[in-house]
Amino acid sequence: MEVRFGQCAQVAAGHGGRERTLIDMSQTVSTSAREQIAFLRGLRQVRQLRPDPLPQAVLDDILEVARWTGSARNIQPWDLLLVRDRAMLQALARVEGGRAAHLLNAAAGIALVMNGNPEHFDFDTYDEGRLSERIMLAAAAHGVGSAVGWFKGAASDEAKRLLRVPSGRLLRTTMSLGYVDAEGHAHRSRPQQPRKPLSDMLRQEHW
Ligand SMILES: Cc1cc2nc3c(=O)[nH]c(=O)nc-3n(C[C@H](O)[C@H](O)[C@H](O)COP(=O)(O)O)c2cc1C
Repeated sequence: MEVRFGQCAQVAAGHGGRERTLIDMSQTVSTSAREQIAFLRGLRQVRQLRPDPLPQAVLDDILEVARWTGSARNIQPWDLLLVRDRAMLQALARVEGGRAAHLLNAAAGIALVMNGNPEHFDFDTYDEGRLSERIMLAAAAHGVGSAVGWFKGAASDEAKRLLRVPSGRLLRTTMSLGYVDAEGHAHRSRPQQPRKPLSDMLRQEHW
């Protein structure tokens, strides 16, 4: 039985404490660590998305993985706002000063509405990053592209107004989701060196 990495992760998450399920599954998993590492290492942001709707089962998986994101003190300081309405996606993409133009052609967006408690701004920030990366990974497991968008200052206020988010909450990150627009993706400009070599960032034992 072949189990893709994403399915394996979902088994682990969806069955919580039922370790036996995970262990039994792992014995049948033919996916090697190398393939899983290649999957993790290969995650990239995709801004060129197609508006074709995503199957509900795919969205359910992505949301389930998001729900299981770890957070500081396990506060889970978020609400997820799923947007599929085209007019709303387009309005968000066009918010002045916003940086989420990729919502324009996305099949769906997920606004990460954080608690906004000023005493725990650091928690919100860190946990928001974890949440977005998990959403990207879960999407990629289904062959769905994703991109991070940010709203700050007046742009965040306008996005909150459009989405009717309560004023005390923090809305900074939106995720765009959709199948990859292969043609647009092929023609995007690419930096020559998308990541620094490890030798530029890794120090060992002391600085
Ligand atoms: C904190 C944060 C904020 C980001 N904000 C935006 C954004 O506003 N708009 C956008 O298109 N991408 C945004 N990105 C995506 C980055 O530009 C992207 O992760 C980076 O360029 C690497 O792209 P790659 O995965 O294709 O290599 C953001 C990423 C992070 C982590």
